[in-house]
Amino acid sequence: MSSRKKHGQIAVVLGTRPEIIKLAKITQLLGDHAHVVHTGQHYDENLSDVFFTEFDMRPPDTFIGVGGQTRGQQIGNGTAALDELFTSLQPSAVVVQGDTNAVVAGALAANANEIPLVHVEAGLRSFDRRMPEEHNRVIADHLSDLCLAPTDLNVENLKAEGISDDVVVKTGNPVVEAVERLMPTEVERSSLLEQYGLVREQFVLATFHRPENVDARETLESVLGALSSLNLPVLLPLHPRTQKRIADFELSDVADALSIVDPIGYRDFIGLGAESRLIISDSGGVQEEVSVYKRPAVVIRRSTERQEVEGTFVQRFEPGPALGSQLATEVERSLERRAELTEMPSPYGDSQAPQRSVQAIRALIERTT
Ligand code: UD1
Ligand code: UDP
Repeated sequence: MSSRKKHGQIAVVLGTRPEIIKLAKITQLLGDHAHVVHTGQHYDENLSDVFFTEFDMRPPDTFIGVGGQTRGQQIGNGTAALDELFTSLQPSAVVVQGDTNAVVAGALAANANEIPLVHVEAGLRSFDRRMPEEHNRVIADHLSDLCLAPTDLNVENLKAEGISDDVVVKTGNPVVEAVERLMPTEVERSSLLEQYGLVREQFVLATFHRPENVDARETLESVLGALSSLNLPVLLPLHPRTQKRIADFELSDVADALSIVDPIGYRDFIGLGAESRLIISDSGGVQEEVSVYKRPAVVIRRSTERQEVEGTFVQRFEPGPALGSQLATEVERSLERRAELTEMPSPYGDSQAPQRSVQAIRALIERTT
């Protein structure tokens, strides 16, 4: 662990691509008070550094190297390193976001040091305990002194679990601000299309990485097969987990028909998403983003913690033998769906979620110090 020691700080703990994206503005608003700790869960340049650059964030103040470790090791080693840091830094609060292993490490270390804990994106529930993320969310919410919930449904979920109203603030989701700030202009999007050799609305943008889709050979083969059978080009920026599984299971032949590229930066990803006919994904953040830039998406998942967009911006299908024909039907009706979505408001709120979050964090610190 390498660290620059400071005092009177708010520790912002993050570890993966979506956490950097969704905590960027909050960190920026906290200014010099933020002490950013990167657990190192994501460590490739195109899963981590590129987002610090695009979102104009300074490099992390502390870096812990838990990348490539098992879930238990990421939580255990992350907690131990954060415990040591918090003992010397004594931050006024610890901020975590979402549902990754970094969130649990941050929450446990804050709890062990009796430091107020803030959970950004609190109250999401899939009620599907097969996913590690569902456990991570529940742990973080129940240890938090401030739950920043994106939507009314998330607020209700927290209430239903007996979490006191006093600790819950509805903020919207910070991803709305990220999309609005970084969406490329139409001219920039035209050059993006040229760069990738794509034609507006004549391609599908895909990304997937969930263990439920990629960790079993048969399922991964069926998802890759379903994407390959579509009658439009499919651009697939490949998540490293998926890349490893394709190699382990020797499935590169099945993926041959897809245009596979390394993971791409945020501006390019949302810019291409906005120009695509349909987005196919199992990503959490992507589901929220399509509701901001108003494009139809298909989600391949057994369950969802983002019920707000199901049936409108998102159609969800489980991986299985019917997936190929389900995806083909969605491609066919995607232009019609797109027209229906143009005026639909995003359930994730406006671009002020980071401001509301920081206001609530400051009020918490005032109450607790
Ligand atoms: C993690 C999160 C998931 C989140 C996703 C965002 C948990 C339990 N999972 O899943 O909720 O949706 O991040 O993308 O916290 N790897 C690399 N390079 C990297 C990062 C990872 O090669 O920069 C490899 C790892 O070595 C490992 C695999 O990818 O083999 C999976 O990485 P890991 O961080 O364990 O989980 P994700 O699938 O990325
Ligand atoms: N994303 C990106 N480049 C890519 C793929 C995704 O910038 O090549 C962005 C995407 O817009 C979203 C986030 O990464 O904001 C989603 O990350 P991921 O799917 O890894 O995690 P999840 O949201 O499922 O936890």
